[in-house]
Amino acid sequence: MKKHVVIFEARGGSDKGKYGFRKDSKPIIDSLKDRGWSAEIIFYQDEDRGEIYRHTIDKADAYISRVNPGNLKNETGYFQMLKELVNNGVEGLPHPDAMVAYGAKNSVEKLKGTDIVPDDVYTYYDFDTLKEEFPKSLKKGVRVLKQNRGSTGEGIWRVEVLNPKPNGSRIPLDAKLKLTEARDNHTEEKTLQEFLEYCIKYLEGENGMLLDMPFLERIKEGEIRVLMLRDNVVNIVHKKPADTKDAFSATLFSGAKYRYDKPEQWPELVKSIKGSLRTIQERLGNYDLPLIWTADFILDTDKKTGEDRYVLGEINASCVGFTTFLELSENIADEVLALLDAEEAVNSRWAAFKK
Ligand SMILES: Nc1ncnc2c1ncn2[C@@H]1O[C@H](COP(=O)(O)OP(=O)(O)O)[C@@H](O)[C@H]1O
Ligand SMILES: [Mg+2]
Repeated sequence: MKKHVVIFEARGGSDKGKYGFRKDSKPIIDSLKDRGWSAEIIFYQDEDRGEIYRHTIDKADAYISRVNPGNLKNETGYFQMLKELVNNGVEGLPHPDAMVAYGAKNSVEKLKGTDIVPDDVYTYYDFDTLKEEFPKSLKKGVRVLKQNRGSTGEGIWRVEVLNPKPNGSRIPLDAKLKLTEARDNHTEEKTLQEFLEYCIKYLEGENGMLLDMPFLERIKEGEIRVLMLRDNVVNIVHKKPADTKDAFSATLFSGAKYRYDKPEQWPELVKSIKGSLRTIQERLGNYDLPLIWTADFILDTDKKTGEDRYVLGEINASCVGFTTFLELSENIADEVLALLDAEEAVNSRWAAFKK
């Protein structure tokens, strides 16, 4: 083994420290060093792709991807490089396909039928389907429509019918809607027809897609982010939306308040996610669980039993930060070493390897 790890980052963005690196990358390097390994940060850009590829193949056992692909001008080149690296024996943390599968909003729909996702969740990939199906789903009540590429509440819409509310099986195209965007909780009014046309932009391009799920009104009590290190629950962030009338967003920009909790304070939630891990892994393509990832939950009340239930809103796996608890770098380093040691003995994609 080469005992070397390459960490990919992208330049720019608001998460960078004094030297242009992510503040939580240096601790990973230090923790790996303490264990007799080395690591370096490389800024990815398409222009340097060949050179970065050759260097990584040459020097590293593994890469850790800490890039938000949505922030690259074009993500194709980056994913191609990662694929080439894993195909040639570099351990991908995470595997590029896992990054896509976990990060996409349709991960929620892929988990339909499990305890953590409601039955009336849908995805739309083209305008005809959106126009045919969304007026029917809107009939069931207030909905949240999510663009695939979001990450700051942009293109995440709470959709409520103002009038008319007829008896048929679908909301008519001239119905008036109240629309609230999670970016800043601002509201707009559009007819259903106008809104559907507005949404065309979310369907365009390679990863264009919309996720349609019920609006969970207990978002008022907060969104609960579970930070995971592979199959371990590490930390919980409770994000309470601003205390204003239309607020449903858990983003800092929109005025939400964050509180950092220990997993022990959320035993039911921890149980729920632990019980779902195997299914999550299977339904999202059977890759190793990402090194660092998050799952966001909102409370709901089970209609039959009246009990609390945690509903999955989204998963993030592409560039999860941990600046608020940097000591996690120690566990990350342990996990990287354990993974690569195991990888050397057996191939982790053998069925018998499963933990
Ligand atoms: N089904 C839902 N019911 C109520 N609020 C929701 C729902 N889904 C998302 N939200 C709110 O909208 C915000 C943004 O949605 P999210 O899926 O996290 O997209 P983003 O990728 O922009 O973070 C969440 O942080 C949460 O506050
Ligand atoms: Mg979110």
